[in-house]
Amino acid sequence: MLNIDNNSYIRNIYSKSIDLHSFKEESYYSRNKNKDGDNQEEQVNEDDIWERLNYKCQNEAKQYCKSVYQDLKLQKACDVFIFEENFDSENKILTHNEKYIAYERKLKLQKAINTIMTYQDKNNLVDYHPNINSIGGEIKELVDQEMVAKNKNRWQRHQQKEEKLQNTADIVKVRNIIHQSLQSYHKDYTNSPKQAEIQAYFKRMKQSNGYDQWGKECKTSLSEFLWLPTVFAYSEKNQMYEVHGKLFHPLEQCPDLAELKQELGHLLTYFSKPLQETHNHFKQLYYKLMHNYSDFDDDNEIADVKPKVDFSQKIHAIVKISEMEIAPNSTYSGQWHVEGFSSDNILYTCLYVIEHDQNLINGKLKFKRTPRSDDVPGDPYEQEQCAHQYCPNYEYLCDPDKVIPLGSLDIKENLMIIFPNQNIHKVKGIKNVTDKPLKRKIIAFFVVNHEDQPFTVNDVQFTKPIEIIKEYRMRDMYERSKNKQTEAQSFNYCEH
Ligand SMILES: [Fe+2]
Repeated sequence: MLNIDNNSYIRNIYSKSIDLHSFKEESYYSRNKNKDGDNQEEQVNEDDIWERLNYKCQNEAKQYCKSVYQDLKLQKACDVFIFEENFDSENKILTHNEKYIAYERKLKLQKAINTIMTYQDKNNLVDYHPNINSIGGEIKELVDQEMVAKNKNRWQRHQQKEEKLQNTADIVKVRNIIHQSLQSYHKDYTNSPKQAEIQAYFKRMKQSNGYDQWGKECKTSLSEFLWLPTVFAYSEKNQMYEVHGKLFHPLEQCPDLAELKQELGHLLTYFSKPLQETHNHFKQLYYKLMHNYSDFDDDNEIADVKPKVDFSQKIHAIVKISEMEIAPNSTYSGQWHVEGFSSDNILYTCLYVIEHDQNLINGKLKFKRTPRSDDVPGDPYEQEQCAHQYCPNYEYLCDPDKVIPLGSLDIKENLMIIFPNQNIHKVKGIKNVTDKPLKRKIIAFFVVNHEDQPFTVNDVQFTKPIEIIKEYRMRDMYERSKNKQTEAQSFNYCEH
């Protein structure tokens, strides 16, 4: 069920501000209505009273906002479709007793994945995710130069923050079973009859100096890497979505891949109705710039082509299947992120935690979102300044670089959710309290806007060996880690 975020907390903060403003005015004037105010000594005293009332109101507003934000952090994740048994839309507080629905084809899907993993083991095709902190030398220099040339100020801000990067290499080891980073489009190692169109797509994305379809600053891969989706076409005959063409090029020769393709078709079919329902909700929401009202001109217009997308006949989804091993006696936390660049054009994430050792405890998936137009109560042009005098977070709420908590979900086996790529999210605190490494496995479909980005893995042939593609991957990873969409965001290929 889609747990809709109704924005009431912002309206609460706003009305509290109006109440406090009226309280201050009334207290002051009722106290002073019988005085003429000519006396200088009295005037000084009045200023003092006015200041004290002001201080009291500011304090109360601060406390109120704090309590609102505290409640938000404790709630069950909003803006997320949750496959939960006995979902109670009234109860928004996370109780930790939530029970996720068990997917009926789980065993078949697990078997198909295990067969592929065995094939990878036997054929020297196992890929562990590289550690981003190990990137250096030529790749680092190249990307750094590009970044500096592109956007000096922002780059410097990110450089200052760089030291905070957390090194999780000793805590988590990620095996990419199917991973988009090994089949991205890049002109140096692919052939495509659509190359000119893809280059034109990048040109268009780079020129759109403004905001992407989710109201976020438009970020494009400078090196023109494009994560390529698999085509899932709806078969009327079989009443399900089926992989049309390639799923993952390093495995296309594997005879067992057909079974995995079929199971992924079943899984995406299971996701498809809730996906359409989620899309019906989010395509109606209007995202616009709110931090600078004077900037409402054509240059800042958000080109939102989401409403054109319909999933009834096809879904283009970037498929990711990963296995994570968490080291003994350690805790893993990820970083805030959205999926991909604006140029990857991802609309939604469908996530399924198919395996999660029960001794991995306390993990949470947290969500936050940037503000959108319906957060501001009333017409911003008509609002009186006094109305948000005691809404200390008012400016904060109108800043697209800032984010509002949406709550969280417990990470455990069978967690299945859909959420829009507007909302940043992160894994918090998966704890392994045992003396052995413990594993978890996830499947993600990153659903692409096929109207705006029509290119798929079927449009591309890979012309270089996988080792060369892996070298390019480091460059893509490094760039993605630097060219962030919001200040409150980091990059990590391997999350959830
Ligand atoms: Fe993610």
